[in-house]
Amino acid sequence: MSSADQTTNVDPGVVIAREREDVAVGDVIVRHRRSSRLVHWAMAGFFLVCLGSGMPIWTPVFGWMANLFGGLETCRWLHPWSGIAFVVSTWLMFGQWRRDMRIEEVDKPWIGPRMFKYMAHSEGNEEIGKYNGGQKIFFWSAIVAALVMAASGVVLWWPEQFSSGLRQASILLHEAGFIYFACSIVLHVYFGTAAEPGTFRSMTRGTVTRAWARLHHPRWYREVTGDDSRKR
Ligand code: HEM
Repeated sequence: MSSADQTTNVDPGVVIAREREDVAVGDVIVRHRRSSRLVHWAMAGFFLVCLGSGMPIWTPVFGWMANLFGGLETCRWLHPWSGIAFVVSTWLMFGQWRRDMRIEEVDKPWIGPRMFKYMAHSEGNEEIGKYNGGQKIFFWSAIVAALVMAASGVVLWWPEQFSSGLRQASILLHEAGFIYFACSIVLHVYFGTAAEPGTFRSMTRGTVTRAWARLHHPRWYREVTGDDSRKR
């Protein structure tokens, strides 16, 4: 910790979260280091620009949204370029999180209707690791959907270079990807903020409380703290 941090009384967990994660510091646990948070917020920002600039191109019903970006002409070039930035940041996220997101036996119950209990606490399942099955499914589906958006987007960017069959398929895939993202992000934002108190700070400060970690991700809590509370 630098002397500036000491004199301004910055929370030690927040300081450690600049470089490291999965470490307990006093009352808190570092969940997301600074580089992961920066990538997540870059991806979220580019996603919102894609969404906002794409909807007025999609249908005149959302034509008013073009004013937010300086008109429809601006949206036409901003949309594909922000799309590229979104896909690049999604790829960086993939590099940072893919190991923690491997699907394990304990995650399988989330495949099915339980998916909608996404991010919800573990209900007595002591083997939930850093991410639960719902979060992992969302992660992998976002990677696949981003690739589908990118591939179909390239066809729609240079339509004259491709056959009409491919153009039709790309319109369909781009719209399906858009609908998927629009619905899943609403759920994601809800669960990451209002529905699960204590989660949002993991993406701002980088830290969570020990109680939050024990409730939602008990195996991760045990691994990070060494506190095997099951034995008590
Ligand atoms: C704009 C508002 C957003 C908010 C408030 C938000 C919030 C969060 C929070 C708090 C986490 C950490 C969850 C944890 O540590 O357990 C997280 C993780 C994640 N976010 Fe976001 N996010 C937003 C946008 C996005 C967007 C646009 C995407 C992708 C297109 C995205 C993809 C992810 C993924 C894949 C994870 C890891 C898996 C998970 O925890 O669900 N987020 N987000």
